[in-house]
This record gives sequence, C-alpha cells and structure tokens, in this order.
Amino acid sequence: MSEFLIRKMTEDDLEQVIAIDQVSFSLPWPARSFHYEITSNEVSRSWVLECEGRIAAMMVGWLMVDELHVATIATHPDFRRRGLGKKILVHALLAAQEEGVIRAFLEVREKNEAAQNLYRNLGFVEDGRRKEYYKDTMEDAILMSLNEMNDLQGV
Ligand SMILES: CC(C)(COP(=O)(O)OP(=O)(O)OC[C@H]1O[C@@H](n2cnc3c(N)ncnc32)[C@H](O)[C@@H]1OP(=O)(O)O)[C@@H](O)C(=O)NCCC(=O)NCCS
Repeated sequence: MSEFLIRKMTEDDLEQVIAIDQVSFSLPWPARSFHYEITSNEVSRSWVLECEGRIAAMMVGWLMVDELHVATIATHPDFRRRGLGKKILVHALLAAQEEGVIRAFLEVREKNEAAQNLYRNLGFVEDGRRKEYYKDTMEDAILMSLNEMNDLQGV
C-alpha cells in the first residue's frame, strides 16, 4: 500500500474535501458546512487522509459527551478499495476513544452496501431504521452503532 498520513482537516484542505464530497454523494453538503466544521463547531472532529500528494479520504465526526456520531465519510473515487476509508475511520474512532468516547453511531442508506460492509467489518451493528429518510431516493436510513471500541486496537 502507498504511504499515507491522517491528520486534522484544515482550511487549506477544503477545496479537495468539498470536491470529494460532491463526487461521492447525491446530496452533498453545502460547501460552507465544511468551513463551519473546522472553524466553529466545537464538537467537530474532522480528519483527512493524504496519499500520493492529494487528499484521498475525509471524515467528519461529532463528539457528544461519550459518543461519536460519524457525520460524513468519503474516499475519492481514484483511491477506493485500497483500505483508506477503513484507515481514516479507525483513526477517528481511536482518537475519539482517547477523548472518552465509548460508542459510535451513524446512519447509512439502505442501498449503500460498500459503506455498510465497511462499518460491519469494524463491528458496527444495525440498531434500527428510519423509513424513507432520504428524500431524493426515498431510501431508508439504517442506524448503526459500534459498542465494542476496544476491539479496534490492531485493526
Ligand atoms: C464507503 C466508502 C467510504 C469506502 O471507502 P474505501 O476507501 O473504498 O473503503 P476501504 O477500501 O477501506 O474498504 C473497507 C471495506 O469496506 C467494504 N467495501 C468498500 N467498498 C466496497 C464496495 N464497493 N463493495 C463492497 N464492499 C465494499 C469492504 O468490506 C472493504 O474491505 P475489503 O476491501 O477488505 O473487502 C467509499 O466507497 C465512498 O466514499 N463512498 C461514497 C460515499 C459514501 O457512501 N460514504 C458513506 C456514507 S454512510
């Protein structure tokens, strides 16, 4: 695998982060949302993964007391299936654990098998569904959580 570096997202990363978001989601975030996450949102824990001189993956989490909500995560299409999404997510989860987090949760579209596989591989389990939550496709949101954070060491 190529060398990579995971570090906190900065304003200099925003152009590439927003490009990844826009190419990855049918309903991307408004561009200003990422700026808010890194400058103003105190609960935000935002990460990028650099590989081959580019931002290859990004992730935003929200730390709420002892829980981490995975708000968004994406790998640039040029870098998918190289283990980088898993790397940045595990990094974010372990960093959150160091801040006292004991549980992580997220929502994922019912047809998004790639993301569901990524989460299940790390130990996330399905907790429930929100019916027709995504209004563009009327897909259900699957609610998933990870309660065994200790098992992440060594992943
Ligand atoms: C989901 C996503 C972040 C995965 O990123 P990635 O860097 O390609 O993932 P990894 O290479 O780390 O894959 C880790 C595991 O996830 C699963 N996975 C990833 N992509 C997959 C695919 N296309 N099909 C099936 N399983 C997949 C596999 O279990 C994989 O492990 P394996 O390669 O050993 O089989 C990426 O596909 C993406 O950005 N998708 C668009 C945005 C998105 O849907 N984000 C999640 C919102 S909830």
